[in-house]
Amino acid sequence: MTTSGPIDQNPTAPLPPSSRSGSPAAGVVPDFAPPPPGRARRRYAVVGTGHRAGMYVAALTGDHADVGEIVAWLDPNPARVDWYDDELRRARPDAAPLPRYTPDQLERMVAEQRVDIVIVTSPDHSHAELVDRSLRAGADVVVEKPLATDAEGSRRIARAVAETGRGVVTTFNYRYAPRNSTLREVIASGAIGEVTGVHFEWALDTVHGADYFRRWHRDKANSGGLLVHKASHHFDLVNWWLDDVPRRVYASGALRFYGDENARARGWPDRPERGTDAAGDPFSLDLRSDPRLEGLYLRAERHDGYRRDLDPFAPGITIEDNMAVLVDYRRGATLSYSLNAHSPWEGYRVTVNGTAGRAELEVIERGFVEVDEEGNAILDPSATPGLATHDPLRPEGERLTVQRHWRRTEEVTIPAGIGGHGGGDAILLMDILRGDLRLAPDPLRRAADYLDGVRAVAVGIAANRSLATGLPVTVDELALGVDL
Ligand SMILES: NC(=O)c1ccc[n+]([C@@H]2O[C@H](COP(=O)([O-])OP(=O)(O)OC[C@H]3O[C@@H](n4cnc5c(N)ncnc54)[C@H](O)[C@@H]3O)[C@@H](O)[C@H]2O)c1
Repeated sequence: MTTSGPIDQNPTAPLPPSSRSGSPAAGVVPDFAPPPPGRARRRYAVVGTGHRAGMYVAALTGDHADVGEIVAWLDPNPARVDWYDDELRRARPDAAPLPRYTPDQLERMVAEQRVDIVIVTSPDHSHAELVDRSLRAGADVVVEKPLATDAEGSRRIARAVAETGRGVVTTFNYRYAPRNSTLREVIASGAIGEVTGVHFEWALDTVHGADYFRRWHRDKANSGGLLVHKASHHFDLVNWWLDDVPRRVYASGALRFYGDENARARGWPDRPERGTDAAGDPFSLDLRSDPRLEGLYLRAERHDGYRRDLDPFAPGITIEDNMAVLVDYRRGATLSYSLNAHSPWEGYRVTVNGTAGRAELEVIERGFVEVDEEGNAILDPSATPGLATHDPLRPEGERLTVQRHWRRTEEVTIPAGIGGHGGGDAILLMDILRGDLRLAPDPLRRAADYLDGVRAVAVGIAANRSLATGLPVTVDELALGVDL
């Protein structure tokens, strides 16, 4: 598989035009005051030095180096820590390696390095423990989604927040993508009246979708499955768009495409064990095709045996690839949601029905997966001159429309953003790293707090319980440890 891509997102995720924009529209980037003269930079530790950590490292050694600095690494794998020490040297040739710690030494790290804020970018199942211990060690926390993978994890964090009074921020970058922010503006403006229901379909393609079946996410104990790991982004969006709280959840789903049994049933018995060196296979990820993948994963395997490129049809998968969820909200709206992880194109469609009309958002992030002469999927066709870059019938793009009763449809302009994830990551980083210097409060209230993190995983955790029992599950019965 041919890879390329920014370090701020999953290397298999699509790179739609909005993620390449360098010139955001007026008003998209908030204004910030300069830091007061003499104010000490905040001291950050990065816990979990895998791929996602790169976004924070780039920010704190680049645009936000005036307000914060990384003072320590924590990861069980020394090769991945080496990679980031090298990254620091690439940013500043005279940079010395930072102090490094293993997970059992977290409290010592916070004390010795006088850490103000711990950034948690480790696998999902470890978040609850690492957030709890960081708070109790005396640091605030920025934690990647999902906040926790199960109800006990949520309760554990709730206890630590209540007992320490310290801050936890869950990062929800999708809110900051201008198309998603604009939909919130449309709903909040009252243009479609009171919202009565939302229909939300998310399609992951056979490159990006398959990635969740190649590594730790494939085990539900690690990720909570895609209803927690991936859909917590989507459930957070709906919670935030509606400014409401989920109340009851019913889910249905199964593993119907990936996995060894499905491959056998389809007559594909001889799959490669792993993607690296498996030329000619559109489901494979070759770690040698990208220096970052090779450095962070292939060369780090000898320390922990973590393989980033397992065949998505190899045995051991315990998560679903087709999921449907119904969510009732407290104020009365219903969400019908579906997630598919083996689609030929990637993107999403949202319909919001209201008492005065409906809003519709359609986003195509990758129109089709292009395959090279050898049969490998090409992640970024625009990096290879001469390759077609879009399907004329399904061009990459985004469209937001509003239609009020008895009126024609109107298209709502979506302003250009900056950075990855539909233009969301760069502005998210500004809010996380220098939010206290904002000159005006955000009318869209995009900065997610700890409660937003709980509300988002509440739906996925309830959905997992519903999958197990076949029954609807109320969020209250999960006893997540905090009043939502
Ligand atoms: N917001 C987004 O769009 C987005 C995108 C990608 C990843 N993420 C999130 O970031 C997190 C990391 O994902 P990734 O793709 O970088 O994974 P990764 O596998 O690349 O990296 C995880 C790192 O954590 C380390 N680790 C394992 N156990 C640990 C422990 N107990 N303590 C500390 N470190 C530990 C691993 O050695 C590895 O270096 C996940 O929670 C994921 O959901 C979010």
